[in-house]
Amino acid sequence: MMIRNKPAYSFDDVLMVPQHSTILSRSDVDIGTRIGGLPLKLPLLSANMDTVTEAQMALEMAERGGAGVLHRFASFEEQCEWLAEMRSVQARPRIVSVGLDDSFEAIRDIDHMIGEYDIDAVCIDVAHGDHKRMLDVITQIRGLTQLDIIAGNVATGKAACRLVDAGANIIKVGIGPGSVCSTRVVSGHGFPQLSAIIEVDEELRLNGRRQGERHGNNDVAIIADGGIRYPGDIVKALAAGADAVMLGSLLAGTDEAAGDRIVEDGIAFKTFRGMASREAQSQKRAGRTPRVEGVAARVPYRGPVRDTLSNLEAGIRSGLSYSGARTLSELRDAAQFVVVTGNTLRESHPHHPYRL
Ligand code: XMP
Repeated sequence: MMIRNKPAYSFDDVLMVPQHSTILSRSDVDIGTRIGGLPLKLPLLSANMDTVTEAQMALEMAERGGAGVLHRFASFEEQCEWLAEMRSVQARPRIVSVGLDDSFEAIRDIDHMIGEYDIDAVCIDVAHGDHKRMLDVITQIRGLTQLDIIAGNVATGKAACRLVDAGANIIKVGIGPGSVCSTRVVSGHGFPQLSAIIEVDEELRLNGRRQGERHGNNDVAIIADGGIRYPGDIVKALAAGADAVMLGSLLAGTDEAAGDRIVEDGIAFKTFRGMASREAQSQKRAGRTPRVEGVAARVPYRGPVRDTLSNLEAGIRSGLSYSGARTLSELRDAAQFVVVTGNTLRESHPHHPYRL
């Protein structure tokens, strides 16, 4: 047993120190990014969750400059229908997910999808990505294609390097920060998300996997996945080293999220659930005892996703201007985090006693 001496931080543990700025307007800021071969105008991805990303969400995310990662809790035929729909409107990017449990069939399916639907990236997704089985599946898929491979989730630099050595070029970071995750309380494992991003970035750099040229094609990219509650969290994640940020809860209440809008007692909401929640698992793996590490929730109905994305984009642009940064690369160079106390956290949220 050992105890690490180095402190690790979550988004709420820090603020970003305002920096001298010469930016006159938030429109002077370019928030474009790149993950693998995919240039994105907006550094946001919708989560591959069955209450978030099917074709409609992926189409709208692409339309707005981001990307949607299709979930895998659907039949092969259904996933092909989504891809066909996306192909018909020539939406890019097209990203599908694969897990480890049903991997032989899934890999064969992926092979078919690559050939048939001209997909851009494959996301190999499992709760604990630093696993031998994951390395095997990455190697198998890398043997089929030179497409971008997103692999995760992991929370340490060493784990990220193992995935890269196996053939992945985009690393998804986040063990347990998600709004409907119970991994940390169920298993006692996890890592504070802000520090996880920083440590993965540092380790990849040390190993020459990230040169700091954010738009360099060979750089391994980092996706920060989970725990984003405010636009400011996105800014912190990007400053910490993420190239893009994945969102579940913040998008789950929108029209384009999978699932119906429900109205009860005049209040509109949508259902949002962890992929390892009892509800999602019992549907996907009927008859098998599920490993439950997630919960189901209701999220307020929020209307079209473009409105949510506009708000988030405004926050990101504002964040860059407070750091005096014109690009995400400049943001990362300029960023200075300060560790805060519980009092600061209270001070930071609107706290007027007579707030309307
Ligand atoms: P947010 O906070 O944006 O997080 O809602 C979305 C991310 O949460 C992860 N996820 C889970 N993690 N158990 C977990 O421990 C689950 O059941 C679960 N479902 C989703 C996933 O990484 C997603 O993108």
